[in-house]
Order: sequence, then structure tokens, then C-alpha cells
Amino acid sequence: MVPMATLTVITNLKGAVTPDPARPWAVDFIEDAAIAAGGGKVLWTGPRAELPARFQDAGVVDGQGRWASPGFVDPHTHLLFGGDRSHEFNRRLHGVTYAQLAAEGGGIRETVRATRAATVPELVALGEERLRAYRRKGVLHLEAKTGYGLELEAESRLLEAYARLRSRGWSLDVTLMPAHDLPQEFAGDPDRYVAEVADSWQPELVRRHPGVASHCDVFVEKGVFTPAQGRAVLESGRRLGLKPRIHADEFCSTGGAELSAEVGAASADHLMFASDAGIRAMAQAGVVPTLLPATTLFLGMKDYAPARKMIAEGCRVALASDFNPGSCACIDPLLVLRLGCLQLRLTFEEAFTAMTLHPARSLGRADLGHLHPGASARVLLWDVKHPLDLVYWMGEAFLPAIVEPA
Ligand code: NIG
Ligand code: FE
Repeated sequence: MVPMATLTVITNLKGAVTPDPARPWAVDFIEDAAIAAGGGKVLWTGPRAELPARFQDAGVVDGQGRWASPGFVDPHTHLLFGGDRSHEFNRRLHGVTYAQLAAEGGGIRETVRATRAATVPELVALGEERLRAYRRKGVLHLEAKTGYGLELEAESRLLEAYARLRSRGWSLDVTLMPAHDLPQEFAGDPDRYVAEVADSWQPELVRRHPGVASHCDVFVEKGVFTPAQGRAVLESGRRLGLKPRIHADEFCSTGGAELSAEVGAASADHLMFASDAGIRAMAQAGVVPTLLPATTLFLGMKDYAPARKMIAEGCRVALASDFNPGSCACIDPLLVLRLGCLQLRLTFEEAFTAMTLHPARSLGRADLGHLHPGASARVLLWDVKHPLDLVYWMGEAFLPAIVEPA
């Protein structure tokens, strides 16, 4: 029992909007709602008129007529990197392709050079600035990858920076991704690099930074790593207690979706070119397809991921930002939500669930992404007449208030 003194009720809410963890894709819009919390957790959510008597003497937080929602959960970010690639962005506008830039030694490798040059305190400062931007826009938990070090010491500094960000109170899950690209030092020999990562670096990084990373990831793509190489990286991660995620089928169909099902990945991400068999396999294996529509937009591609087909097959789709300097220089959850509706053809309820409950589940966080009992009591308050306004008023930069009852 939580003592009465620490109970709080958020009331005077125009409403509360939340996915229902017990019913796939269901979103409740509760008008004139109240949320009771204690010990940092939601204890009850419902219409204010039905607030149970045990909360009647609780402390009150005035919702000021706004709509409460759970915080967004972003399950795919490349939060930490040095430098930026704005000049490269303009070259793409002049007609040079992403693949050509990479072939010239630019692209990810350019960011690797800038990231290797950054100290841990510099990385922490960059991370805090970006995490504040996420929080201001309503993202209260996110996944963050390594992968711009591509050498043991630089990957280790990235993990150290993530550990320090966590100890400063930021809510994040860390993914180890030394196989994000083939570094210059291993040019022409991806097998040797994969063996180094799988047999030596990943075990060493987990040994040096126990408990920091919870997931591992690899870029399976034509010209990067094959499914067989991806499998070797992910199986090494699994032996170390890390759960697999995969960058899969972003530029063409390479069997990444199928691989995610075979290794029982928590998520497979991008998937613009996932095959029908891959989609069915993900549905059967319970892999969460994590779609990144802001990346498709930023790359100027026209093929958005086949979200409707995935939902029809029974997949619990998630949406994410993919924030990174090359293919999506963008921290904007409302843009992702809007692209989910307008380009992936999701309903508001589906897109909202894909920004909250489903990404939380893919990260193993049953306490995030909803407002049912047991959920985190960190809640967003939106000054809108209805949650649909977040998509409908497409150009509006709505910024939520955050309440965090003790
Ligand atoms: O998720 N696809 C691979 N990695 C990133 C892009 C990284 C970069 O261009 O720096 C992505 O899109
Ligand atoms: Fe990515």
C-alpha cells in the first residue's frame, strides 16, 4: 500500500488518451478524466466522476483543462555522434546519392571520423542537448545506439557516455552496434571485421561496461553486411545477454526481416523493402517491425514501408525517429506521428499506439507507453481540444507540459 501522503490525483483534465495494453491496437479516449498515482506509478485512470473513494484525500495536480497522454517512446535513435553532414545533405539535393557518398568514403565513415575525435565529456554534452530536445517534444524514454566509433576504444567511449547520461537520470536503453558499417581499417574484408566484433569487441565491451547495453544491432544491407554476417554479430550479442534488433531491408530486400524472425529479434527496423514472406515470419515470431518514415522522407525516397500489410498480417508495428546525421537529422515525434498517418496510412489510434505501447514492448518496458495501473506516472499534458489535433493541425509545434507525481 502506498501511504496516503504520497498519493496524487491529476484532475481537471479535458481527457486522457491511452493505449490499452490488454487489447491490441485499442486506444481509450477518456473525457473529463482523472489519473491517480503513487510511488511514481499510475494506480488508477478513468472518468473523474468515478474516482475511487480511496483517492479523495490525495494531493491534487491541476491538469488545467488539457489532455493527458503517456510519454512517447522512441525505439531507434543514433543519439551520440560527432559533427554533422549538412554539406553532404546539399550534395544529395544536387543529385549525388546516399550510396555514392558512402562509396566515396563519406556517409557513415565521415561521422565515424568526427565521433572518434570526441571525448566522453563532449559526447555527454551533445547527448544532453539532444535528450532535452526529445523531452521538450514529449519523448520520455528512448533507445540509443553506439555505432559511430567502429573501433574498440571509440565504441567503449560511446558506452561510457551513455552510462553517464543514465546516471544523470535520463531514461534510455542502450544498443551495442559496432557493426553499423565496415570501418576503413577493414575495407574489403567484412568477414574479418564481423569475426573481430563477434568474437572479441562485443565480449570486451560488455565486460568493460556491465549492465549498460541491453540490446545489439547490425546493418544488414546489400554492400554492408550479409544476413549470415548479421547473424554472427547478433548471436554473439545474444550469448552476452543482449537482445537482437536489426537494420533490415532499408534499400533493397536482403532477407533482413526473415533473419529477424529466425534469431527472435525484439525488433526489425526500416523494412521499406521487406518481402511478404519476411513480414509473415515477423508476425509469427512476434518481432516488432519498427518503421522510420522520417528517414524515407529525408532520403527523398518514395517507397514507405508497407505498414498496412504488416498490420494485416498481425504485426504490432512501432514508429521511431532514427535520429542520425546522415539519413534523418530530425528530432520531432509529431512529424513521425504525422508521417505514420499520412504516408504509412495508419489511423490515429494505430500511429499513437506505434509511438507509445509497441515501442515500449519491443524494449521490454511494460511500465511505459500507456496510462493503465502500473504505468510510469510521468505524464504529458497537451493543450489541445482533442488528441487528433496533434496530427490534424499538421504544421503546429505542440509542446507538452510534463507532470511527474512522486
Ligand atoms: O539507420 N542505415 C544505417 N544507419 C543509419 C544511417 C546512418 C548514417 O547515414 O549516418 C540509418 O538510417
Ligand atoms: Fe538507424
